[in-house]
Amino acid sequence: MASFSKDLGIDIGTIQTRIADNTGILIEEPTIVAIVIAEQKLVEFGQAALNMEGRVPDTIEVTRPLQNGVVADYEVTEAFLHHLLQKVSGPMRLFRPRVMVSVPYGVTSVESRAVHEAIFQAGSKEVHLIQQPLAAALGIDLPIGSPSGNMVICLGGGITQAAVVAMYGVVSAESLRQGGTYLDEAIVTYVRRKYGIIIGSVTAEQLKIKIGAAIPQDQEQSMEVQGQDQVSGLPRPVTLTTGEIVEALQDPLKNIVETCRIVLEKTPPELVSDIIDHGVALCGGGAMLRGIDKLITKSLGIPAYLVDNPTSCVVEGAAKGIGMYGILKRNLPSV
Ligand SMILES: Nc1ncnc2c1ncn2[C@@H]1O[C@H](COP(=O)(O)OP(=O)(O)OP(=O)(O)O)[C@@H](O)[C@H]1O
Ligand SMILES: [Mg+2]
Repeated sequence: MASFSKDLGIDIGTIQTRIADNTGILIEEPTIVAIVIAEQKLVEFGQAALNMEGRVPDTIEVTRPLQNGVVADYEVTEAFLHHLLQKVSGPMRLFRPRVMVSVPYGVTSVESRAVHEAIFQAGSKEVHLIQQPLAAALGIDLPIGSPSGNMVICLGGGITQAAVVAMYGVVSAESLRQGGTYLDEAIVTYVRRKYGIIIGSVTAEQLKIKIGAAIPQDQEQSMEVQGQDQVSGLPRPVTLTTGEIVEALQDPLKNIVETCRIVLEKTPPELVSDIIDHGVALCGGGAMLRGIDKLITKSLGIPAYLVDNPTSCVVEGAAKGIGMYGILKRNLPSV
């Protein structure tokens, strides 16, 4: 017990929530809860609630309290964080941690205040916010204090953010409230239009992860999935190929690339030339999509690379950020 650090980093993602201290990730759970509707009582959290999704009677609601990176249900978010913090600190509440929590770039002050309050109410002593791309840059170990520019693109499940950081702060950035879930929806739409078959979003995500890519691949793969005939309503299998998933993803990927391009357009030329030298760091679960590094490299004309810790860099950076609060504070979002 004594080994617990009193400083925690938290990343409340649309899909996954992570808590870390300076030794690494302490807990990671899907951002989802199950509620007994009549009593408005939360009965399951995280993975246990995810296992219930789509399989519960209508007396129970399985719900995600975050949408597109921002808190959509404040009370549920607070209860969820309270549960996770208790798991990390033990039921005895041995400490009230100091927390640095990441918020997406460009959220409103109302949205960031909701995150701040939820964490404070969930049992923290002190709460500081950090822009997600800045936390990611810290977690990737980019030299964020140097006057030389570094670019990070966070491809999350619900939100995409591109940012240039220098001198411990965000110089230029953009966010797009579309992420991996939006890509899954594009696959659902594609299969419905082309084959008249309705597939679920979980199936679409599996297609994306197992055989999908951002650009055409030399090695085509295929996968058979079960869907439902749009007309007869009966179950019907359908086989999709890598090429088809690439085609389905083109429009949403264009939006992502456009967001990155706008950031470069707003960035002073000196910093752009630094970024050309350093390359662009890609993080978030979406950065693991096959070929997305090549697509971004080609579209921006700047080499893009997948970082070593794409899904944990934000929370690791937030945990690291507390120790640097004195230097970072003038560039952090206030509430
Ligand atoms: N190998 C993969 N290829 C493509 N997408 C992937 C892969 N692995 C995970 N993903 C996608 O990554 C997304 C989850 O990423 P991440 O955990 O970074 O999101 P999050 O932090 O919860 O959300 P956000 O930051 O947007 O609030 C999901 O949409 C998932 O489908
Ligand atoms: Mg995230």
